[in-house]
Amino acid sequence: MNIKKDIWQTKLRIWYSKNKRNLPWRRKSDQNFYSIWLSEVMLQQTMVKTVIPYYLKFKNKWPNFKSFSNAELDEILLLWQGMGYYQRAQNLFKSLQILKRINLNKITYEKLITLPGIGNYSAASISAIFNNQNHVVVDVNIKRIISRAFGIDKQSKNFLKDLKIKAQYLTPKKDNKNYCQSMMDLGSLVCKSKNPLCNICPVCDLCDFAISSKKENAVKKKKR
Ligand code: ADE
Repeated sequence: MNIKKDIWQTKLRIWYSKNKRNLPWRRKSDQNFYSIWLSEVMLQQTMVKTVIPYYLKFKNKWPNFKSFSNAELDEILLLWQGMGYYQRAQNLFKSLQILKRINLNKITYEKLITLPGIGNYSAASISAIFNNQNHVVVDVNIKRIISRAFGIDKQSKNFLKDLKIKAQYLTPKKDNKNYCQSMMDLGSLVCKSKNPLCNICPVCDLCDFAISSKKENAVKKKKR
């Protein structure tokens, strides 16, 4: 399947502007490094629905990076209680000690990936959401969208390699912040793993999976 990237990006941009989830880390007041870093670390292994109250509790206790700078590990662990994967809280504290000493406005993917607990995915999502850097963000949802759209066989030997090439191709040079979050929302709201809602999908006309399903359904209908 060949996809025109500018059409893909435009359709997603329009869809996202109307359908984006109202999440606390997307508020205008939360468009700063601290809030984006905190939310992305929480979202690494925990579902959005579970993260929301924890994120709000953290922001209530430490509204900004300056206040968080003085946080003790025990206090962080206490507020983290119940969210699981406590290593993340430890890493948040360790990273904080490093971040305190640098200029956060200029932070790059290359710096982020050196922080404890920050892998390729989180470094890409933080740098994309914080300052629109054009790093490719690929999580399970985005993998599902791209493999369906391009008809990439999950069993094929080069699955991940092919997928990353396509993901890179579709990632815009500008406004990756909205693009990567539109893909996250599309995966969560529309391109679900079971029963995807192709009938309301903004990119169904470009998607190999949606086009094939439509044809199959038409054949089934005819046979009935
Ligand atoms: N999962 C990881 N990062 C996310 C974000 N910024 N919005 C929604 N879901 C996410």
